[in-house]
Amino acid sequence: MATAGRLLQNLVTGLRTHVASSRSSLLNSTQGPRRRYLSFHRSDAPLAGPSSFSLRSHTCGELRSHHVGHRVILCGWAQYLRQDLFVILRDFSGLTQVLIPQEESASHLKAVLSELTAESVIKVTGTVRRRPAGQENKMPTGEIEVITEDVEVFNVCCKLPFEIKDFVKKSESLRMQYRYLDLRSSQMQKNLRLRSQLVMKMREYLCNVQGFVDVETPTLFKRTPGGAKEFVVPSREPGLFFSLPQSPQQFKQLLMVAGIDRYFQVARCYRDEGSKPDRQPEFTQVDIEMSFVDQTGIMSLVEGMLQHSWPAEKGSIKVPFQTMTYEVAMRDYGVDKPDLRFNMKLIDITEIFTVEVEFLRSALSQPGGSIQAICVPSGAVRENTSCEELLNRTQAKPGDLLLMAAGPLHTRPLLGKLRLRCAELLESCGVSLRDPSAFHFLWVVDFPLFLPKEDEPEQLESAHHPFTAALLEDAHLLYTEPHKVRGQHYDLVLNGCEIGGGSIRIHKASEQLHVLKNILKEDPSLLSHLLEALDSGAPPHGGIALGLDRLTSIIVGADSIRDVIAFPKSFRGRDIMSRAPDTVSEEELKPYHISVRWPTEGGEEGK
Ligand code: AMO
Repeated sequence: MATAGRLLQNLVTGLRTHVASSRSSLLNSTQGPRRRYLSFHRSDAPLAGPSSFSLRSHTCGELRSHHVGHRVILCGWAQYLRQDLFVILRDFSGLTQVLIPQEESASHLKAVLSELTAESVIKVTGTVRRRPAGQENKMPTGEIEVITEDVEVFNVCCKLPFEIKDFVKKSESLRMQYRYLDLRSSQMQKNLRLRSQLVMKMREYLCNVQGFVDVETPTLFKRTPGGAKEFVVPSREPGLFFSLPQSPQQFKQLLMVAGIDRYFQVARCYRDEGSKPDRQPEFTQVDIEMSFVDQTGIMSLVEGMLQHSWPAEKGSIKVPFQTMTYEVAMRDYGVDKPDLRFNMKLIDITEIFTVEVEFLRSALSQPGGSIQAICVPSGAVRENTSCEELLNRTQAKPGDLLLMAAGPLHTRPLLGKLRLRCAELLESCGVSLRDPSAFHFLWVVDFPLFLPKEDEPEQLESAHHPFTAALLEDAHLLYTEPHKVRGQHYDLVLNGCEIGGGSIRIHKASEQLHVLKNILKEDPSLLSHLLEALDSGAPPHGGIALGLDRLTSIIVGADSIRDVIAFPKSFRGRDIMSRAPDTVSEEELKPYHISVRWPTEGGEEGK
């Protein structure tokens, strides 16, 4: 009974010690090991910040000379192990040098630390001290080191397929296969954190500053006519399938009919179109829709949102952004998303060639057009009238290269591609053409509402999507010459990449029906729910979707959007790590009334 009483007494004392120990008394404490084990958890941890509710007192990137003398607890991965003398401990925030004690009395600590493998996970308790003179380095924590007083090994790391060092190059497939290791790199850590901050500030701006409502919409949906190929999801009802949405387009319009007034969503979108550096089958949009708004309103909102959320370390961005019509973009740059960070505009020289020039004549007779390169010889310009005029018109100097294309079709897009390729080539040769730290935003407006289908040129298809309204001054042409109609559509371009697109929508059912049925020749019954909604008191409305992955990748200077997505798909649209898509047994397919017909050797399908 007496023993039990003493135990209880000890327990209560221990509890009091624990509750009473404030963070500062803990961190500056010089007390012995018993106290150390009472030294973390709620009452001692900072109330907010990256070390709150954590086993650690500080992050590995946080300690500076003003922490000298503090007792700290660090948790992280052993990045480097050096000569049994120290361990470089890493977490998301940086690196700290942890000294392995050399005294005989701490031989057990030395044994544990010296036997660690790289990437093992440990907790180190110790005291911060100033590095001896001459041993400081340029690391943010380079003035201090931590002398180990206790260590706990959480996990010993086995041999990894690659080292977690920024300078170690890894193949793309290895990075994808071991994505959880690849994400440990400082660049990927930075990218994902910047993305998180960006989204947080966008939400803040939309919800708190502009009164938007964050609404989630379904990802099990039905096929939408036109646009990208959709992923199909089987249902348990024979022959019936869901589709994954290309975007929440219909839902956001229905939310306007519902009176939500200002909607946004950080939305997952799915398009079965394979992957490219700027394209993923599964990606994220910052999706926005507003009622009672015009094109200028949406454009100003987006400019305000980007200005508010722009990372401070990337400088500030100037608004309003430059605006250019589709016609001018195609004329001067051969593309609807021109990179304006460098000049090299396309110049129309048709009128110079009033006399027949053989290569142009033959090129014009070919349907696809062709390209000729003319090198302007250094020294005297040739005595040839059309050549002189050409040089005047293009402002070319001796030694310059003029690339000329002639032909009835695709000539400008061809030259537009060549313009970009030239920029890449020049840059690869060390000519600085585009400032890598510049961000050039551009609105492209007045797109054609419809374009001829590539494989069936007499049939029109939507340039953007079938819900875009015509420019008011062109609206009457919808019923007579639809190919001449321009849409109230706008694209946002950043450094030559389309990072967003949107439009003012058709809000009258009769007009929407005419576009679907008579112009696009689509089955309107697929959209009967939307047509019915538009007849139920639909306000005028419009919106936009920003491609979050593309925007983030440009901000961080990544070559591919895969570098700002935690678990992206490979070029072939697969998850290499988990090997998805994967097979499903016949038994599991039965409830969906599906059986697989495997392609035979000759390519024909059979069992
Ligand atoms: P749109 O199809 O133009 O418009 O898409 C908007 C933006 O989304 C990004 N994006 C992609 N990003 C990565 N991978 C892809 N496969 C991919 N496809 C598109 C682009 C693009 O500008 N519902 C309409 C928007 C609206 O009208 O409000 C839409 O989805 O940056």
